[in-house]
Amino acid sequence: MSTAPDPLAAAAGTQDLAARFTHEFGSAPAGIWQAPGRVNLIGEHTDYNDGFVLPFAIDRTARVAVGVRSDSTARLLSTYGDQGIVTTTLDSLEPGAAKGWTKYPLGVIWALRRRGIDVPGIDLLLDSNVPLGAGLSSSHAIECAVITALNELTGAGLEAQEMVLATQQAENDFVGAPTGIMDQSASLRGSQGHAVFLDCRDQTARLVPFETEPAGLVLLVIDTKVSHSHSDGGYASRRASCELGAQVLGVKALRDVQVGDLEEASGLLDEVTFRRVRHVVTENDRVLQTVELLAEQGPSAIGHLLDASHASMRDDFEISCPELDLAVDTSRASGALGARMTGGGFGGAAIALTPAGSEQKVRDAVVQAFARAGFTAPDIFTVSPAAGATRIA
Ligand code: GLA
Repeated sequence: MSTAPDPLAAAAGTQDLAARFTHEFGSAPAGIWQAPGRVNLIGEHTDYNDGFVLPFAIDRTARVAVGVRSDSTARLLSTYGDQGIVTTTLDSLEPGAAKGWTKYPLGVIWALRRRGIDVPGIDLLLDSNVPLGAGLSSSHAIECAVITALNELTGAGLEAQEMVLATQQAENDFVGAPTGIMDQSASLRGSQGHAVFLDCRDQTARLVPFETEPAGLVLLVIDTKVSHSHSDGGYASRRASCELGAQVLGVKALRDVQVGDLEEASGLLDEVTFRRVRHVVTENDRVLQTVELLAEQGPSAIGHLLDASHASMRDDFEISCPELDLAVDTSRASGALGARMTGGGFGGAAIALTPAGSEQKVRDAVVQAFARAGFTAPDIFTVSPAAGATRIA
């Protein structure tokens, strides 16, 4: 059964959020903004190598009701967790000082202020149905909802591209996760029925039609419940290996290495760095092939590329885990056309491109396989490409 949000329930939810805001903060919000999480269809750990990615915004969003204050205090509350209202003064914001989910809105305010944008004090109520820690970019969804709200409320007039860079700075320097630009780009630039084909070198984006339903397919997300954080060492160490590889090969970034260069590269790099490099180089190639195949033959033609991407992340980049491998292998064995882990890795979610007629079989098989292996039961749901960040009330 799909757990995609029902639009009517979402509208009612918007009124509830406004009412809750008014109850908590004593006056109505100036508006409500939302931004989606993302699934990366293909192109993993390529963004910070100046490469190609193909994510899409999903139909699960973070929503923020925001009111402007006359001082420089932020009062922040979320509908989940037990932190209560967190109050802080914006003049003393510093990287490392914020805790929990408040890092994300405060990081955005900090990054905007560093750009000379005069962000006033705010009251903010957050609600989100993007699963936390599942590799679907719940944190970027919050950041993108907040920056879309503040861009409008301050009249800053930032273009999508500048918002992408500001949220990246929030994430890198305030939150402390050395991530690239993929997730924000999908959340801010996504469009219903499309994936976002992003060239991370010149940061140009092209919308690529990607619809599963007309092709008789569903895209299943299998949240393994193994949570991860990109502030932990794994992500940074992969990034460091890529930088080392580029340096030894004498290129600006691994984007500049082609599949045909790999043989020569193997003689120049140590064994582990070579495998890290091979993942990035072949993954860039798979993104380009995916874009081509989607245009020529549609989504049912890309399964083998998803499989190859997973194998590369498991064996060369070594960012998978037993739960992700089991989700991928079981999906494939029970009818999916292709499957791979999605996102930064070390936990989170896998995606399985599945004929609609095999959906239940895949779901059942994965649930049973997890039970047999003694893993925590996964959460399985469908997603489809949805619109990017916007004001909803
Ligand atoms: C995380 C980061 C992205 C990207 C992916 C891996 O989601 O936020 O910038 O590097 O990992 O593809």
